Amino acid sequence: MITAAKTIPIDKLVSGLRQLPESAFSPIEPIRRFLQDNPVNAESLGPYLTWDRQHYTRNLIDRTPLYELMAICWEIGQVSSVHNHRDQNCWMAVPIGRLLVENFHLVDQDLQGGRCRLEPLNTVEMNISQPCAVDPADPVHRVLNPRDLGERAVSLHVYSRPFDTCVVYSPEQGTCGEIQLHFNTEYGKPK
Ligand code: SIN
Repeated sequence: MITAAKTIPIDKLVSGLRQLPESAFSPIEPIRRFLQDNPVNAESLGPYLTWDRQHYTRNLIDRTPLYELMAICWEIGQVSSVHNHRDQNCWMAVPIGRLLVENFHLVDQDLQGGRCRLEPLNTVEMNISQPCAVDPADPVHRVLNPRDLGERAVSLHVYSRPFDTCVVYSPEQGTCGEIQLHFNTEYGKPK
């Protein structure tokens, strides 16, 4: 098991994020470093953990005009769609379990026509001591909790600015389209 030396409760992460100036959210390194320096303890996440065997759950923790913070709960084997983040910056930390991020290069896209071409780029692991920032130059990715890792996982996502749509891609079929994003819970309460 991977453990972090010193963890903080989620409330402290939120108050830390709220104190950061707008300039900390672009470029990507300051928030990646902030997440790395402030790993969150699992015990404090209780109100934000919901589980669904059919789909990972999205649980809003905090939202300001500058960013939103959510916990995403991944059952064993769950995977997100390949997607982008609409020119926004995105960071992920993994306080519980381990997850993989598979990154893709978007060769071209015709959103109106629903067609795209993607090439696989690389795969990186995230865990409590290894958060990651989505590369603004190649933002298309998916997150996986592979069966062989054998445990549930929880990721914390910081999106700046907040957004409620994204473009999803099928690398196999070369198709793409916009979807609406929803929360399962907001501020610890079911929607
Ligand atoms: C992800 O980055 O895989 C999670 C996407 C989401 O916000 O639903």
